[in-house]
Amino acid sequence: MTQILITGGAGYIGSMLYLRLKQLNHNPIIYDNLTYNQTSLERINAILKNRIPIKDALTINPKDYEKIDYVHGDIRDKEKLEGLFKKYNFDFVFHFADIVGYFPCEDQKDLSHEISTKGTKIIAELCKKHDSKLIYNSTSSIYGLSPTENLIDEDFEIKEIKDQYSKNKFESEQIIKELNPDHVILRPATVSGLSLRMRPDLLPNHFTYRAWLKRNLAVSDPGHYRAFIEINDMIDAYVLVLNNFKKGTYNLGSLNLTKLAVVNEIEKQFNNLKLSIVQNIGDKRNLKIDSSRFCKTFDFKPKRDFEDIIVPMINFLEKEGDFFNKKEYLNMTREQWKKLME
Ligand SMILES: NC(=O)c1ccc[n+]([C@@H]2O[C@H](COP(=O)([O-])OP(=O)(O)OC[C@H]3O[C@@H](n4cnc5c(N)ncnc54)[C@H](O)[C@@H]3O)[C@@H](O)[C@H]2O)c1
Repeated sequence: MTQILITGGAGYIGSMLYLRLKQLNHNPIIYDNLTYNQTSLERINAILKNRIPIKDALTINPKDYEKIDYVHGDIRDKEKLEGLFKKYNFDFVFHFADIVGYFPCEDQKDLSHEISTKGTKIIAELCKKHDSKLIYNSTSSIYGLSPTENLIDEDFEIKEIKDQYSKNKFESEQIIKELNPDHVILRPATVSGLSLRMRPDLLPNHFTYRAWLKRNLAVSDPGHYRAFIEINDMIDAYVLVLNNFKKGTYNLGSLNLTKLAVVNEIEKQFNNLKLSIVQNIGDKRNLKIDSSRFCKTFDFKPKRDFEDIIVPMINFLEKEGDFFNKKEYLNMTREQWKKLME
C-alpha cells in the first residue's frame, strides 16, 4: 500500500485528491490546520461511509459526521511533521498547504510568505531525509499578468513578480530545487469545478455563480486569455505522476480561453443572460500556457471541456442556491467577495 501525505489536504484540490487516492486503495493522510474551519473532512467521511456522489456530500449536515482521520497541524511545525514522516515513511508527499490566492496574500504579506517558504523548506528537507518523492503545486500565475502573446512554456524567463502570492510560490520553487529532493513541481492553470471544499473565487466558478444568480455578466479585457483545468482532470494528472514519477517542472492546464470565450460558454447554459463589456474590473491577467511537456512525459490526455466545469455547478446551484456564499469556502474576505459579485 502506498503511503501518501497531503499537506493542505482539506482544501479545494487536496480533498478531491484524498478521495481519489482512497478509492485507488492507497493510504493517504491529510495534514492541515483547517484555516477556514472547513467541513470537507466530514463530507469525505459521508462519501466513504454512504457511497454517495460529491454533489450529495455537499448537502449533508456536517454535524452528523465525524471528520475523517487526519492530522491537525500547522505546516511550520517541524517537530510534528518529523514525527509523522518517521511514523509513516511516506512514499509520496503532495505539498499544498498555503495561503492561496491574490487577495489573502496581499492582505497578509508577511504571514503568507512565512507559511509558504518556511513550510516548503520543512517539507523539502523532510522529503530528502526520509526519501519521499515530493509533488509541489506552484502556480502558472508566476508568469505574471501579461507575459507575451505566445504560449508560455516552462523555460520562459520569469523576470519580475509583483504580487505576493506568486512571489511566495516562486521562492518555494527555488527552495525545493536547491534542497534537491526527488521533486515534481507543477505550475497549474486555474483549477475549476465542483469540489468538497468549494472555492467560489476561481474565475469559472464565480462567473458561473454570478450568471446563475443575477443573469448578467460584466467582463473587462474580453480578449485576454486565461488557462484552466477541470478539477477531476487535475486529479487524473496527479495519479499519472504517482504511477510514473519523473522529476521536473511542468505547466499543467487543458484549456486556454479568452474571457469572451468563457462568457460565451456560460451564456449557452442560460436563455436570458445579459452580457456587458466594461473597463477595469477583475484581474488583468493575459496568459496562455503550454502544457505539452506534462502531456508527453506522463501521457496525459485531459478528458473534460469547459462545459464539464460549469454544468455540474449550475445543476448544483439549482438545488442549493446559497451554497457559494458559505464563509468556509472563501479564501478572501466577505467584502472582497461582495465586490467581486457586484
Ligand atoms: N485552485 C487553483 O486554481 C490552484 C491553481 C494553481 C495552484 N494551486 C495551488 O494548489 C494548492 C492547493 O490550492 P487549493 O485551491 O486547494 O487552495 P485551498 O485554500 O482550498 O487549500 C489550502 C489548504 O491549506 C491549508 N492551510 C493553510 N495554511 C496552513 C498552515 N499554516 N498549515 C497547515 N495547513 C494550512 C488550508 O486549511 C487549506 O485546506 C496550493 O498550494 C495552491 O497554491 C491552486
